Amino acid sequence: MPLPKNIVILISGSGSNMAAIVQTAQQQGWQEQFGATVAAVISNRPDAAGLQLAQSLGVAAQALDHRAFESREAFDAALMQLIDGHQPALVVLAGFMRILTPGFVGHYAGRLINIHPSLLPAFPGLNTHQRAIDAGCAQAGCTVHQVTAELDHGPILAQAVVPVLPGDTADTLAARVLIEEHRLYPLAVRRWLQDEP
Ligand code: GAR
Repeated sequence: MPLPKNIVILISGSGSNMAAIVQTAQQQGWQEQFGATVAAVISNRPDAAGLQLAQSLGVAAQALDHRAFESREAFDAALMQLIDGHQPALVVLAGFMRILTPGFVGHYAGRLINIHPSLLPAFPGLNTHQRAIDAGCAQAGCTVHQVTAELDHGPILAQAVVPVLPGDTADTLAARVLIEEHRLYPLAVRRWLQDEP
């Protein structure tokens, strides 16, 4: 039996990437294959729809409201405590819309990954789809990467490409990219589990 590998997923919104990972883990038997369990889903927004979705999938869901903290450092410290209660082998950012402190990133170095809705290194930051359309890109996509101190700049683990079609709006492009995110992120997490001793 492999050593237990707990996964903690951080979200801020609808949690569709989180659900894709949880469902793939359940369908593919990651527990039996890799000893991997999604131990908890944590949101910085108590009203995030993804919290209920996590519960409906049988995963413990917790909220830690960032507005209750005086500083980014104080919130990140409390978040680390909550996460570490689950002894995570891997922390997965899935639409977690917070800038992380260097202390947080350093604490989870090598076991912190993110999905970003662009083909990094193009378009780090926000409004990625509109920026890709405005730049006249023929292709867009998503990137799974390791998280490092610089926002959206860590080593790339996986990417998926979609076409930008004539008449695309940010919404239509985002929807096309999101379908690929739901395929790519579980694949990248699975690969990470396979490669971990
Ligand atoms: C996803 O498109 C993800 O790539 C993006 O937020 C969305 C979350 O959707 N993340 C970022 O923009 C991070 N900078 P979800 O909550 O349904 O998974």
